[in-house]
Amino acid sequence: MGLVVGTCLAELGNIVICVDDDIRKIDDFKKGIIPFYEPGLEEMIHRNVRAGRLSFTTDVEQGVKPSNVVFIAVGTPQKLAGGVELAPLKRISRQIARAMQDYTVVVEKSTLPVKTSIYIKKAIALNNVRNIAFDVVCNPEFLREGSAVSDFMKPARIVIGTENERAAKIMTELYESLAAPIIVTNLETAELIKHASNAFLSLRISFINAMANICERMGIDVSKVAEGMGYDKRIGRQFLDAGVGYGGYCLSKDAANLIKIAKDAGYDFELLKVVQKINENQRDQIVAKVEGALRDLPGRTIGILGLSFKPDTDDMREAPSIYIIKKLQGKGAKIKAYDPKAMENARAILEDVEYGQNPYEIAKGSDALVVITEWGEFKNLDLSKVKRLLNQPVIIDGRNIYDPQKVRELGFRYQGVGQ
Ligand code: UGA
Repeated sequence: MGLVVGTCLAELGNIVICVDDDIRKIDDFKKGIIPFYEPGLEEMIHRNVRAGRLSFTTDVEQGVKPSNVVFIAVGTPQKLAGGVELAPLKRISRQIARAMQDYTVVVEKSTLPVKTSIYIKKAIALNNVRNIAFDVVCNPEFLREGSAVSDFMKPARIVIGTENERAAKIMTELYESLAAPIIVTNLETAELIKHASNAFLSLRISFINAMANICERMGIDVSKVAEGMGYDKRIGRQFLDAGVGYGGYCLSKDAANLIKIAKDAGYDFELLKVVQKINENQRDQIVAKVEGALRDLPGRTIGILGLSFKPDTDDMREAPSIYIIKKLQGKGAKIKAYDPKAMENARAILEDVEYGQNPYEIAKGSDALVVITEWGEFKNLDLSKVKRLLNQPVIIDGRNIYDPQKVRELGFRYQGVGQ
């Protein structure tokens, strides 16, 4: 997120210095090597480095000293007991305080629990030995992995949380050229807007997945239900795709955090707990469908298409594939898998998986093919060839990428979600 924000701000014409304490990462960035996949980012980095607007360093002082605005984009690891580990945030706040030279706007960009801005303010104030003027702003990001660059450049809205007019003006000017609605609130409201937004997205997904379960029992197609609902402008069509459930670090983490935020405020957010439960259940459904199609799993080979938590990213954090694969392995199945970008990351997480170079290698000798992530390249497979390669013509389509009728006409036993 930090790299996307820094690069896009440079693209808007600002001078940006990206700081990280990981020497290897910074060395790679300097050489133009990006250790993860994000469409459009690499070219933009090269362009802005060449133009002299974007540079990288491990030295906090070098980054903070000449800057009017400092974005904090540190990681937000979860504590085992729940909540977010704030130590990295406090550390960087102290370092910023010591390096500030002139009035500085310090921006909380990482998604952090409501009122974290108070910690940042305190940590800076305590270490601000030269008494430099500063303000803390919460400016949550709404970037989706896989389309982060275009989300930054064409935002639906920009939220700026601050109590200070000077800081609000600087932040507004920074984003002015993006021509998006800018909402200025106090700090806590901005922090809560981010959590509420992600939680609402997960709510929509669990709602449509619950509908999918009803549709399956009634012989109704959930995608038609979503289409029929989506034309209502009050509802909209986005985030109503039934599937294997939501994954990824953000939606999963933010729902859990909002439940904790609510609890700390004295409210039991039961609705969101049910959202989580429906989501977990959705993964189990896929396993049950595979089991239902093959009857017994021990000794069977299951071919998995797609490992990342969604297409166009190599991110495996909280990916539904991890849960589904481990569950199938636990029931005695052998797993073959292919993903266009995430296999390297998957290797570090999953054991005993045989990886292939393309979907056909996965189909060969498998007893069933399971689609977990809807990568574009899976949509146009030669399904007749897939059928010849499979031991049994079974497809469990966790993302509804195929037309059930056409696939069944080819002789497959096919099951999607909510059909
Ligand atoms: C999410 C939010 O969409 C961003 O606005 C936010 O900035 C970001 O988290 C963050 O907090 O950093 P992201 O995690 O990249 O972005 O992914 P999404 O596009 O939201 O998808 C999340 C999951 O929901 C994926 O597993 C996806 O497959 C699933 N999903 C999405 C569905 O199952 N059905 C849908 O209709 C839409």
